[in-house]
Formats: sequence, C-alpha cells, structure tokens
Amino acid sequence: MRFLKLNPLWGGLCVASLVVWAGFGGTSCGTVHQRAVVRLPQIEGAAFVGNAACSDCHTNTVDTFPASPHARFHLAEANHSGESGCESCHGAGSLHVKAGGGKGVFIHNPGRGPDSCLECHLEIHAKFSLPNHHPVMEDQLNCVDCHDPHGRDIFKPSSSSGLAFARLNQNCSECHQEQARNFVFEHEAMREGCTECHDPHGSVNPKMLVQRDSNLCLKCHAQTQFAGSGDIFIGKEPHGFNMQAGGCWTAGCHTQVHGSMVDPKLRF
Ligand code: HEC
Ligand code: HEC
Ligand code: HEC
Ligand code: HEC
Ligand code: HEC
Ligand code: HEC
Ligand code: HEC
Repeated sequence: MRFLKLNPLWGGLCVASLVVWAGFGGTSCGTVHQRAVVRLPQIEGAAFVGNAACSDCHTNTVDTFPASPHARFHLAEANHSGESGCESCHGAGSLHVKAGGGKGVFIHNPGRGPDSCLECHLEIHAKFSLPNHHPVMEDQLNCVDCHDPHGRDIFKPSSSSGLAFARLNQNCSECHQEQARNFVFEHEAMREGCTECHDPHGSVNPKMLVQRDSNLCLKCHAQTQFAGSGDIFIGKEPHGFNMQAGGCWTAGCHTQVHGSMVDPKLRF
C-alpha cells in the first residue's frame, strides 16, 4: 500500500545520479523517468564524506538514522564506503567536518525551510501550490513540524505510545486544539484520524478537504434508497428532503463535524 502510494513519487525523484537500493527491486532511477530535478544543497568547495564522518560529533543521529525511510537510498555521487544519506539533505560535509562543525558552518539545515525536501518530493511541492494548503511556503510552519527527518517513524510524534487515536491526531492537535478536544458526543470518524477528511499538505477544496461535498461523508455512511417510499436513508434516518438543502454540513445540519458538546447528531 505504502509502496503503491509512493509510486508516483519516483517520476519526480528520478535522476541519473540518484540510485535506489534494493527493496525496490534494485530499480535504478535511470530506468524509470529521466527528469533531472534533484539539486542537492550546494556547499561550495565541499566534498562528500559519508555518514561515518558525522558520527563522532552527531552520534545519536547517526545511530538512529539507519531505521529512517531516508536511509534506504543514497546518492551515487556521494558514494562512499559508508552510508551517505546525511548529505542528501545537508549538502556535502567535508568543510563542515574540517572546521570542527558548528551552526551555519558549511552545512545546510533544512529545518529553516522546505527547499531541500521539495527538490525530491515534487508531488508534495505541487500540493503546497494548490489554492488551500498549509502555509509552509509562506514560512508559517515547516515539514519538520509534522515529520521527523532522522528517526524510524517519519510521521510525528515519533515516540508516542498512546492510543491509536492520540497517536494519529496528536500532531495536528498541537496546533488545532479546538477540533481535537474531547467532545461529549464525539464523531467516531476522528478515530480514523484527521487525514480521513483533510489532506495534510494541500487540496483544491476549501479547508484542505479530500472531497468538497457530501461524498466526504458518504464514503463511510452508506446511503440507501427505501424500496417502499423511495426515500433516501442515511444512518436509519430519512434524508431525501434534507439532501435537497445542500451538503451534509454546508446546509447547516451537521455543522459540528468534529464533535458536539450538546447534540449526538453533530448538529450544534
Ligand atoms: C568535529 C565535530 C563535527 C563533525 C565531524 C560534524 N559536525 Fe555537524 N556540527 C557540529 C557542531 C559542534 C555543530 C553545532 C551544534 C549546535 O550548535 O548545536 C554542528 C551542527 C550541525 C548542523 C546544524 C547546522 C545549523 O546551521 O543549524 C548540521 C545539519 C550538521 N552539523 C550536520 C553534520 C553532518 C551531515 C556531518 C557529517 C557530514 C557533520 N555535521 C559532522 C560538529 C560536527
Ligand atoms: C531527509 C532529510 C535529512 C536527512 C537524510 C538527514 N537530516 Fe539532519 N536534519 C534534517 C532536518 C529537516 C533538520 C532540522 C530539524 C529541526 O529543525 O527540527 C535536521 C537537523 C540536523 C542537525 C541539527 C540538530 C538538530 O537535530 O536540529 C544535525 C546535527 C543533523 N541534522 C545531522 C544529520 C546527520 C548526521 C544525518 C545522517 C545520519 C542527517 N542529519 C540526515 C534533515 C535531514
Ligand atoms: C535526496 C532525495 C530526498 C530528499 C532531499 C528528501 N526525501 Fe523524503 N523521501 C525520499 C525517498 C526516495 C523516499 C522513499 C523512501 C522509502 O520509502 O523507502 C522518501 C520518503 C519520504 C516520506 C514518506 C515515508 C513513508 O514511509 O511513507 C516522507 C514523509 C518524507 N520523505 C519527507 C521528507 C522531508 C520532510 C524531507 C526534508 C527534510 C525529505 N523527505 C527530503 C527522498 C528524499
Ligand atoms: C501539517 C502537517 C504536515 C506538514 C506541514 C507536512 N506534512 Fe507530509 N504528511 C503529513 C501526514 C499526516 C502524512 C500522512 C498522510 C496520509 O497518511 O494520508 C504526510 C505524508 C507525506 C509523504 C508521504 C507521501 C504521501 O503523500 O502520503 C511525504 C513524501 C511527505 N509527507 C513530505 C512532506 C514534505 C516534503 C513536507 C514539507 C514541504 C511536508 N510533508 C509537510 C503531514 C504533514
Ligand atoms: C505547527 C502547527 C500546525 C500543525 C502541526 C498543523 N497545522 Fe493545520 N494549520 C496551521 C496553520 C498556521 C494554518 C493556517 C491557518 C490560517 O491561515 O488561518 C493551518 C490550517 C489548517 C486547516 C485549514 C483551515 C482553514 O481555515 O482553511 C486545516 C483543515 C488544518 N490546518 C488541518 C490540519 C491537520 C489535519 C493537521 C495534522 C495532519 C494539521 N493541520 C497540523 C498550523 C498547523
Ligand atoms: C469526518 C471528517 C473530518 C475529520 C475526521 C476531521 N475534519 Fe476537520 N473539517 C471537516 C469539515 C467538513 C470541515 C469544514 C467545516 C466547515 O466549513 O464548517 C473541517 C474544518 C476544519 C478546520 C477549519 C475550521 C474553521 O473554523 O475554519 C480545521 C482547522 C480542521 N478541520 C482540523 C481538523 C483536525 C485537526 C482534525 C483531527 C483532529 C480534523 N479536522 C478531522 C471534516 C473533518
Ligand atoms: C472515516 C469514516 C467517517 C467519515 C468520513 C464520516 N463519518 Fe460520521 N461517523 C462515522 C462513524 C464510525 C460513526 C459512528 C457510527 C454511526 O453512527 O454510524 C459516525 C457517526 C456520525 C453521526 C452520528 C450518527 C448518530 O446517529 O449518532 C453523524 C451525524 C455523522 N457521523 C455525520 C458525518 C458527517 C456530516 C460527515 C461528513 C462531514 C461524516 N459523518 C463523515 C464515521 C465517519
């Protein structure tokens, strides 16, 4: 599933110099598409030194990194005896190492902006250009607010051991407390996670919804037509008349889609 989902990514990722390791059948990008897109962070005059050269000073990061999805590929031009993943995001490291390291010393930190992530993730770049998107390009938040670049679990929070519900929504709730708070009448859809209804990056639909109309709700709530009356039923209630008024929440009916304090039908 994951693999299928990521498939379109390869079109955007592939350059002759980006070699994908086995696990993807040993596919080399050169055999898929030929779009030169990856421009590594440029550190003038620096050469690639490989992950091992970082380990003396950034021991924890180097130790945890092999479990990261990003450790599964490497750049041919950065080929070294060791792993070379660090430099695909941070740029060639020889000058940084030689200088004894330091903040802003011949090294790129993508925590300050999404540029180096977007060089590879073209599909994601496109989403942030859609009319409704998280303001990442506007510098109000960044990829690393939601993704852990080094750890085993790239989806934050990386170390949560809580309930699935908390785990799924915790990251979003750090900034959107109102939607993620406890409701007297909770909408069970929330247990599936915010991304059942919202695209976390961007969408053509308002509020980054994955679908703009009642179809958003009907993917989980079956709509049945009663043979006798011909009326349309949703959740045991006749809805034919209601549906003429508009969408499930836009018509002013289920306006409390995230949960309600007063009404089990999520109306107020
Ligand atoms: C000789 C020790 C040393 C080595 C080797 C080293 N670093 Fe650093 N690095 C540092 C120090 C010290 C800092 C500053 C840390 C701080 O201020 O918190 C730093 C900071 C960084 C930063 C943050 C820069 C910023 O502007 O915020 C990155 C990214 C980084 N190193 C990556 C690497 C990578 C990748 C390698 C291997 C190619 C590497 N470092 C090798 C010592 C080293
Ligand atoms: C997928 C891209 C990516 C890869 C690969 C990567 N990093 Fe980073 N690194 C980042 C981002 C993004 C940040 C900023 C994190 C933040 O601001 O929270 C960062 C920050 C850092 C820092 C600054 C201290 C910190 O944690 O904020 C160091 C040091 C560092 N990385 C070292 C490494 C080393 C060593 C490797 C290889 C073992 C590596 N990185 C691999 C993206 C990456
Ligand atoms: C050099 C190219 C490159 C760069 C730079 C890069 N990525 Fe990736 N990223 C990849 C590849 C390739 C994969 C697929 C790896 C896999 O699934 O084995 C991937 C996978 C991911 C995934 C999905 C993992 C999953 O399990 O579904 C996320 C999230 C991600 N990257 C975020 C980021 C972020 C955030 C940054 C910047 C800090 C970044 N990437 C920088 C190449 C890159
Ligand atoms: C507001 C939180 C948030 C921000 C900001 C964010 N992401 Fe994501 N990202 C997610 C979530 C949540 C998923 C999982 C989506 C799912 O499972 O449907 C995801 C999935 C991904 C994937 C896997 C492929 C996919 O489409 O599911 C990649 C790659 C990725 N993000 C890269 C990035 C990059 C690069 C940035 C910054 C330019 C970024 N993300 C910013 C939350 C975020
Ligand atoms: C680091 C903070 C942060 C995180 C984490 C975050 N968001 Fe946001 N979100 C924002 C900001 C900032 C905006 C833009 C608000 C604005 O323009 O008024 C926004 C806007 C939105 C909007 C659109 C609101 C509107 O009025 O159009 C939705 C929906 C949304 N976020 C859902 C999510 C989901 C789902 C997640 C988890 C995958 C998430 N957010 C994680 C900061 C965050
Ligand atoms: C069942 C689908 C569904 C789920 C699950 C869901 N949302 Fe929403 N969300 C919506 C709809 C529909 C709207 C638009 C409501 C409107 O326009 O009145 C919305 C609107 C929003 C807004 C904009 C609020 C505003 O006043 O403009 C934010 C922020 C938001 N959701 C965050 C979240 C977060 C965070 C989660 C997970 C904790 C989440 N949503 C889960 C359907 C959902
Ligand atoms: C991810 C699946 C999912 C999505 C999407 C979803 N729901 Fe739900 N919803 C549920 C589940 C599960 C329940 C609890 C079981 C039930 O009553 O069917 C529920 C319950 C409800 C209830 C309470 C029903 C009752 O009789 O107590 C209402 C009202 C409701 N949803 C409206 C909506 C609306 C409006 C939307 C679209 C914005 C929506 N749902 C989208 C899964 C979903």
